[in-house]
Amino acid sequence: MPTYARQRCISPACAAEYPVDRALVSCERCGSLLDVVYDFDAAWPEHERSFEVFARRGSTFGERDATGASATDAALDFSGVWRFRELLPFWMHAPNGPADIVTLGEGRTNLQRADALARELAMDTDQGGRVYLQYEGYNPSGSFKDNGMTAAFTHARMIGAQRVACASTGNTSASLALYASLTGVRAFVFIGEGKIAFGKLSQALDYGATTLQIAGDFDACLARVREIAENRQDLGVYLMNSLNPFRLEGQKTIMLRILEGLNWRVPDWIVCPGGNLGNSSAFGKAFSELRELGLIDRVPRLAIINAAGARTLDRVVNELGVTWKSGDYDKGAVAAEFERMDREHERAKTIASAIEINRPVNLPKALRALEVMEGVVRAVDDDTIVEHKALVGRYGLGCEPASGASVAGVRLLRDEGLINPTDTVACVLTGHQLKDPDVTVGYHTGLDTKAAPASAPANPSGRFNNAPIRVPDDLDAIIAAMMK
Ligand code: F0G
Repeated sequence: MPTYARQRCISPACAAEYPVDRALVSCERCGSLLDVVYDFDAAWPEHERSFEVFARRGSTFGERDATGASATDAALDFSGVWRFRELLPFWMHAPNGPADIVTLGEGRTNLQRADALARELAMDTDQGGRVYLQYEGYNPSGSFKDNGMTAAFTHARMIGAQRVACASTGNTSASLALYASLTGVRAFVFIGEGKIAFGKLSQALDYGATTLQIAGDFDACLARVREIAENRQDLGVYLMNSLNPFRLEGQKTIMLRILEGLNWRVPDWIVCPGGNLGNSSAFGKAFSELRELGLIDRVPRLAIINAAGARTLDRVVNELGVTWKSGDYDKGAVAAEFERMDREHERAKTIASAIEINRPVNLPKALRALEVMEGVVRAVDDDTIVEHKALVGRYGLGCEPASGASVAGVRLLRDEGLINPTDTVACVLTGHQLKDPDVTVGYHTGLDTKAAPASAPANPSGRFNNAPIRVPDDLDAIIAAMMK
């Protein structure tokens, strides 16, 4: 069988390669992030390459068995991820081929044209200026994460993983827990103390994930779960954070759906919030592959919007001037910035809890995406985020605070004159409005709705009670709690 897909270190100076049947979090040789790369000539012969292939696919949900195995092409065609399966052909190495693909009918999202909203953002709709909302809230767990989870769970099934884990600000854990409950693997989610919107926490608990509430923030949680996946291979824990390159393969399809919604026209701008920078990394990879495949001749520009209280990327790019430089980016400057933040106890703080992150793990890949898409990075403050979230609620589809950052970013870039009033802009709304009702009600009523810290119920009596387990930020204590 030809080698359709491999994993490859993103550092051009290293470029070490690994087969797709391994679960790796980073390059074993140099520690850099990994990509999934393809031999497209083998996986999708040139004479078959066309957007028409996707356009022909139907939209009825075919049969699946009770574990989410799809088996039929209809189920794959229904999925907004697997409808584009030629663009993520790592599954071609699955022992049972397409039958190993795990799908829940994710990615059935739409691209909503929002003229009234566009006018609020100072776009000239009369002259053809357009804002489209790519609404990822329609996903089974209510956020874009399902695009990535379907791909990562497919990979996990390919290699027989029985335990999966992630650190999360909420949406990753909700999505992981959902796919784990379906596929019957054991799920562990690591959340920071008081750092998660209740809509999201409620999902992980309901889907039965073992939820560890670590005494620390998201970055501490991620460091711990990574340590367990990388260094405690005896535990066989498969990491589902976006360090996992297979997850990003699924998230590429968000861009395919935007193109599809525009009848395969390339927009001028893609705007998305920036947290751990998985999305922006995936978007850059999607467009460089589409260009390489000859399916597009132009790449849109990318705007990554940080919250002002969690603006590591904004600082690294706009103040320290770090750029990808074909892989030769200034690693020392990034490391020094991380160290400065620790030294000065500067911790991320934003109402958009989804993106309250200090050290975005995909920063190098995001730098690469900024190069591919001639991108810019901006930061918007919490009041502006919440205001624009409400604007989406009024004139769009409703979204959670982090998603509001992308819309606020459009306004900022219009004011700067970088986005033209007649441009076509696609804004990714990453999560559903109901994920974080506290912020919404707080905004509309002025009430202090700050969620009480999660804790075990005083009198747990429900049959499915699944309260978070409080643990200190200590590896042995964490593992003991996981294995209880
Ligand atoms: N928007 C929402 C709603 C999110 O949940 C996240 C990330 C982002 C944006 C940022 O995306 O990491 O690809 O830059 N949430 C992660 C989580 C960190 O754990 O749910 P990114």
